[in-house]
Amino acid sequence: MTEKLHTSYEELVAHKLMDTVALNSKFSIGVISHNDELKRRIDEGVLGRFFNEFAALYRGIYAGEPWNEYLICTNDDCGKKTGLPTEASLEKTDEEFNANPEKNCCPDCKSPMKLFYEPTNIEQNFVRVFKEKIFASLLFSHNDISTEMQMAGFSLGWETTVHDGYKDKMIIGAGDLGKQVLTYDEYFSEFREHLGKTHTEHTPVFNSAELAIAQKARDARASYPLLNAVYTRGQQNLAVYPGQEIPVIGHTLSGSKAEAIFKKVGFTTGMQKPGSEEVRVYSTLPRLIAGTQKYISTK
Ligand SMILES: CC(C)(COP(=O)(O)OP(=O)(O)OC[C@H]1O[C@@H](n2cnc3c(N)ncnc32)[C@H](O)[C@@H]1OP(=O)(O)O)[C@@H](O)C(=O)NCCC(=O)NCCS
Ligand SMILES: [Zn+2]
Repeated sequence: MTEKLHTSYEELVAHKLMDTVALNSKFSIGVISHNDELKRRIDEGVLGRFFNEFAALYRGIYAGEPWNEYLICTNDDCGKKTGLPTEASLEKTDEEFNANPEKNCCPDCKSPMKLFYEPTNIEQNFVRVFKEKIFASLLFSHNDISTEMQMAGFSLGWETTVHDGYKDKMIIGAGDLGKQVLTYDEYFSEFREHLGKTHTEHTPVFNSAELAIAQKARDARASYPLLNAVYTRGQQNLAVYPGQEIPVIGHTLSGSKAEAIFKKVGFTTGMQKPGSEEVRVYSTLPRLIAGTQKYISTK
């Protein structure tokens, strides 16, 4: 008899695609990364539930503060985004939106609004990038009333180079509407200022692209073990030369909670351009592994 796999957790564990550690009584952390076996299993279609839940988790988190990426104005000159209130259910709000999309007008210019992340699109994008390049740590929270583990957060990264990392900032997020805040030359000199003058455009780099935790799992300091797990996996897989310190780049909103966390674990912040809320952050994998380790609580 084939067992029915109810959750992403069960699906990933049953197919031996995820390494897990129990962190404490509330959380477990799982790590998955791209390789031939993961690609083969994705092509066989065994991770349907995972991709479905992952896309919903992603959309739900970025629909809230500080990103408010639930709807976006279809008028490109406007680009107004509106978010989903913390207490709203993504599923229900999607249903309401789909029943009557034309009811949603832009508060600024009255053009029609559309979903910021189209669910099928975003899911297909995740399938593609998980096959191709992703290192992911996943946060699972223990459900109080059953033994089920619910996916409640993630951190993602991938290997890039100094050169490609300039454009490679997020997987699908528009972040600042996709504008490049710094010119390439400014970015390259900022990179060398933070990480040393010996780096060339071809230096391998870890792009630390996402850190996200669902509302119900917030404020439990789960961000530190999530980051630690993805950096540790990156360190194991990107170790091109033994002893080489792999640079890490990332982006964040200046003054955000994420920026505070990044600073604590060992990132330094680049320049903020007038009129932009975004900053780049720089570090190295060994520094971040040690930095995140300090804050991991197993109680
Ligand atoms: C960023 C995010 C993952 C943080 O997770 P969290 O569960 O809220 O935060 P944690 O409990 O793990 O971290 C707490 C740390 O945040 C910092 N922090 C907490 N509240 C803060 C506040 N109001 N302002 C600034 N920093 C704050 C502190 O440094 C705290 O560390 P401490 O307990 O060691 O003092 C989560 O808020 C999130 O998913 N936000 C939306 C998505 C997002 O913006 N991601 C970042 C993209 S760059
Ligand atoms: Zn508008």
